[in-house]
Amino acid sequence: MSLPPPREVAIQVTGLNHFFGKGDAQKQALHANDLTVHRGEIVIMTGPSGSGKTTLLTLIGALRSVQSGSIKLAGTELAGLNPVQQVEMRRNLGFIFQAHNLLDGLTARQNVRMAIELTATPRADYDRVADAMLASVGLADRASYKPRNLSGGQRQRVAIARALVNKPRLILADEPTAALDKDSGANVVHLLRELANHHGTTVMIVTHDSRIISVADRIVNMIDGHIVSDVRIKETMVICAILKKCPVFKEMSPSDLTDIAQKMTEEHFAPGETIIRTGDIGDKFYVIARGSTDITVESAGATRAVAKLGEGDFFGEVALLRDQPRNATVTTREPVVVYSLSKENFLAAVKTHKSFEDQMSTMLFTRA
Ligand SMILES: Nc1ncnc2c1ncn2[C@@H]1O[C@H](COP(=O)(O)OP(=O)(O)OP(=O)(O)O)[C@@H](O)[C@H]1O
Ligand SMILES: [Mg+2]
Repeated sequence: MSLPPPREVAIQVTGLNHFFGKGDAQKQALHANDLTVHRGEIVIMTGPSGSGKTTLLTLIGALRSVQSGSIKLAGTELAGLNPVQQVEMRRNLGFIFQAHNLLDGLTARQNVRMAIELTATPRADYDRVADAMLASVGLADRASYKPRNLSGGQRQRVAIARALVNKPRLILADEPTAALDKDSGANVVHLLRELANHHGTTVMIVTHDSRIISVADRIVNMIDGHIVSDVRIKETMVICAILKKCPVFKEMSPSDLTDIAQKMTEEHFAPGETIIRTGDIGDKFYVIARGSTDITVESAGATRAVAKLGEGDFFGEVALLRDQPRNATVTTREPVVVYSLSKENFLAAVKTHKSFEDQMSTMLFTRA
C-alpha cells in the first residue's frame, strides 16, 4: 500500500470566475474555483445540472476565453490568449463532447483521419491508424459508414476514436458514455485508463456514470458554480486505512474518515530532516504514507532512540490532545511522505466523536 511519486501538474486552475450575459442580466456561472490536476490523472466531475461543469471544461479546453482568474495547461497560461493561440492550444487536446461534431459528409474512417492529418503521421498510415482506432472502440465493421447511418452510441464512439487517435496529452469529455451500452461504455473507460497509464494522458470527464468512478483517481463535485469537494480516491483510501488503525479514528464511519482524509495535506521530507522536535508546540497530527522515521527522546541531557515509525504509522497526537509541547523528536531515515492534519481539524474530529476521548485517555498511557 504505497503512494505514487509526486507528478507534474497538467492543469492548474486558480481563482477562476466566469460570467454569462451583461449588465443586469449578468449571471455568475463559476465562483473563485481552484483545481490542480496532475499528469496521468483521471478526474471525474459530477454535480447537478446547471452547476457549471461544462463551463469549466470548455474554459480548460480553450473553447472559451478566461475572463477572471487563471488556467495553466502544463504551465502555459490560457488567460489572455488570442483566438489564434487558442486554436493552437486546442490542437494538443482531445474533446469528447455531447454534440459529436462529426462531419456528415464523411465516413467514420474519414472523420477519424481528419484528426490524424493534423499530425506528423505518414500519409500512407492514415487509414491503418484510423481503422485500428475504430476497431478499439468496437467499430471495425462500420469504418465506411456515414454518421447518419450509425446509431447514437456508434456516432459517439466515432467521436471518441477521433478524440483519442492522436493520444493527446489532455482529454476533456462531457458525458462520454451517456449513449453507450454496458460493454461499449466499459470499453471506452478501459481505453482512457490505458492512455492515462501508458502515455501520461490527463483525462477530465463530466459524468454521472458510476462505472467510470472505478477507474478515476479523483472525484470533483460542483454545486452552484463552486467546487465543493475534491476527493483523491486512492490517496483517500490509503489515508483512511491508516487512520483506521489509530485509536482516535478507528470507530469512525467511512464518510467521516473521508472528510478527515480530505482535510489532510501531503508533505514531503528529505532524508535526515526533522518533522517534529522535542519542546516545540504541537500544531499537527501526522500519518506516514511512505518512508520511515526515527523517534528519539531527550532525557538527562542525552538523546535516546525509542522507536522507528514507518509506512502506515501515525504520530503527533499526544501534544495536541494534552496541549503540551512535543515529547519526542521525529527524524526521517529516507525520503518520507506524510499526510498532516492541523490541530484545529484534529481536535474538531475528536470532539465530534465524544466516545473517543475515553479511548484516547487509555491510549495516552500506552504511548506516553
Ligand atoms: N452560453 C450561455 N449563456 C448564458 N448562460 C449560460 C450559458 N452556458 C451556460 N450558462 C449558464 O451557466 C450555468 C452553468 O452551465 P453549465 O452548462 O456549465 O452547467 P452543467 O453543470 O454543465 O449542467 P448539465 O449537467 O445540465 O450539462 C447554468 O446556469 C447555465 O444556465
Ligand atoms: Mg453540461
